[in-house]
Amino acid sequence: MKTLSSIEDIPELCKENVYIKDKESLLKNINKIIAEGNKKLQILTDFDHTLTRHDVDGKPVLTSFGMFKECPSVPQKYKDDETKLANKYKPIEVDADMSIEVKVKHMKDWYMASHNLMKGLKFPRNELMDVGHKMVGCFRKGVNDLISWSERHQVPVLVFSAGLGECVVAALQAAKFLLPNVKVISNFLAMDENDNIVGIQGEIIHTYNKNETAIKHTEYYGMVKERNNVLLMGDNIGDAGMAEGMEHCDVVIKIGFLGRNTEANLQNYVCTFDIVVVNEHTMDIANAILKLVL
Ligand code: TMP
Repeated sequence: MKTLSSIEDIPELCKENVYIKDKESLLKNINKIIAEGNKKLQILTDFDHTLTRHDVDGKPVLTSFGMFKECPSVPQKYKDDETKLANKYKPIEVDADMSIEVKVKHMKDWYMASHNLMKGLKFPRNELMDVGHKMVGCFRKGVNDLISWSERHQVPVLVFSAGLGECVVAALQAAKFLLPNVKVISNFLAMDENDNIVGIQGEIIHTYNKNETAIKHTEYYGMVKERNNVLLMGDNIGDAGMAEGMEHCDVVIKIGFLGRNTEANLQNYVCTFDIVVVNEHTMDIANAILKLVL
């Protein structure tokens, strides 16, 4: 077993686009994760712009909601109305100054309005599989290594998304990432027997309520009851809270991918995540840490 004497032992953490809040505490936590090994570890990751990149060739990567809109049979009226909602609420979601409390109210309104727009639409099952295949090239470089490492060492991975579950699953399936140790918690649609959308299943998951409330009572929770160390990744401030409430987790190393409004958000991100990586398209940091575990 390797013990690090300094953060600088991991070259991936020494790059110019990497910001670390507290090097001493990070070093202590990485050493604990290494010492306790794969059996005590779980990986908690967001999907949109975390497993996937922010951009490919200068073009924004589709989000899970964007994947749904990409399906040809989805009516233009839905697409226009969804865009209007996103134009209104997305700036609120990423606002560097607004309090989380105020944002939560807006998020609830957004998700309710968005799901209402979907009601009555026919779920584009086959088209979504095609879109899923187009997403394969949009994952961060190194996601495949992360997933195969986790499978090899039997470390559970939770893909925790406030997006659309069916779309997340379509992209993961197309990339062959949906292995038995990989679970998805997200907003899954409720459909009638003819594949017409009638609502969503369960409670809405939005960016600022992604935490253990949604994880409890799931198959995933059963898999991680004994795992007190977490490697967490996200691209939104709210993602940093994904492990909150898991009382048994004492070490959560939070990696934040900042790829939008970088200047305005940097300070907030550095306060919130243990490691912030700006305008990055790889999983190098997570993989470098995992490599030390076994
Ligand atoms: P997440 O993938 O970071 O968990 O969050 C899902 C994203 O989806 C979040 O940034 C909000 C966004 N979203 C849309 O793009 N369209 C919508 O209709 C809704 C409700 C959310």
